[in-house]
Amino acid sequence: MLPFEDETSLSLLYHLNSEPWGNVEAYQSVTYEVEYKHVTPAAPPLALPPPPESEVTRLANMRRSCRAYEPKTLHLSSLSAMLWGSYGITRTDNTLLGGSLALLRPVPSAGGLFPLEIYVATQRVEKVTDGLHHYNVRSHVLEPLTVGSIFPALKPHLFMYPAIEHSNAVVFLSAVFHRTQKKYGPRGYRYALLEAGHVAQNLCLLAVEQGLGTLCMGGYSDGELNQVLGLAPLQEGVIYSVAIGWPAFSEPLTISLV
Ligand SMILES: Cc1cc2nc3c(=O)[nH]c(=O)nc-3n(C[C@H](O)[C@H](O)[C@H](O)COP(=O)(O)O)c2cc1C
Repeated sequence: MLPFEDETSLSLLYHLNSEPWGNVEAYQSVTYEVEYKHVTPAAPPLALPPPPESEVTRLANMRRSCRAYEPKTLHLSSLSAMLWGSYGITRTDNTLLGGSLALLRPVPSAGGLFPLEIYVATQRVEKVTDGLHHYNVRSHVLEPLTVGSIFPALKPHLFMYPAIEHSNAVVFLSAVFHRTQKKYGPRGYRYALLEAGHVAQNLCLLAVEQGLGTLCMGGYSDGELNQVLGLAPLQEGVIYSVAIGWPAFSEPLTISLV
């Protein structure tokens, strides 16, 4: 039961009511046009110079959604790089938390509260038993939660099957809602979603660096998926997911930035 007198209830109610939409027609339409804003400039537009080439612009240029994977083995070092570089502990600071040591990450976090948890479903990852793992950010270890093939249990709840069938890992970003809502109330819900976007983009760019493909996915059944992951309803829920693996087709990668 959601306590109605609690201001965060509405955001949690929204969360529960935003399971994938039943409007199949809307999904099936392929005729949506991308819209752009037209403004009336107050002065002549300023042409920007071509972006300078750098490692980050190169990776950003190469990122794209991958919907076909080759069943090859993923190096453990690649998974490690992606997890650490997306949400691991990158530095400490003892000036932020009234003297106690703050453990900071590669992404910004509203109030430094880090509401997200990372779970990884793996198959064919070097030295890793297939299964579902929790990424313990403080010790940078994978904690097995279920041992044995987990993809079949996920399959009915992830809409991008069979496209992600041969991926090596699906990273689930969950939000522990009260971590941000205790400080920001209903708005804390937004902050958790925004933070997941930061983490996912880091995952994507780090994957590209390793020659891997990714698919960011919002298409999954929340309730059932959370159950497979063993998340406590109303306290924690998956808010984003990213499949990672070896792309089945290599496309020519251009570096024309504009
Ligand atoms: C929040 C979000 C949810 C998405 N969910 C899905 C999804 O469930 N399935 C899918 O195939 N692609 C999904 N995508 C990927 C988009 O379809 C894709 O990024 C877009 O078409 C642009 O193509 P690109 O990623 O290759 O540049 C999602 C992207 C975002 C940002």
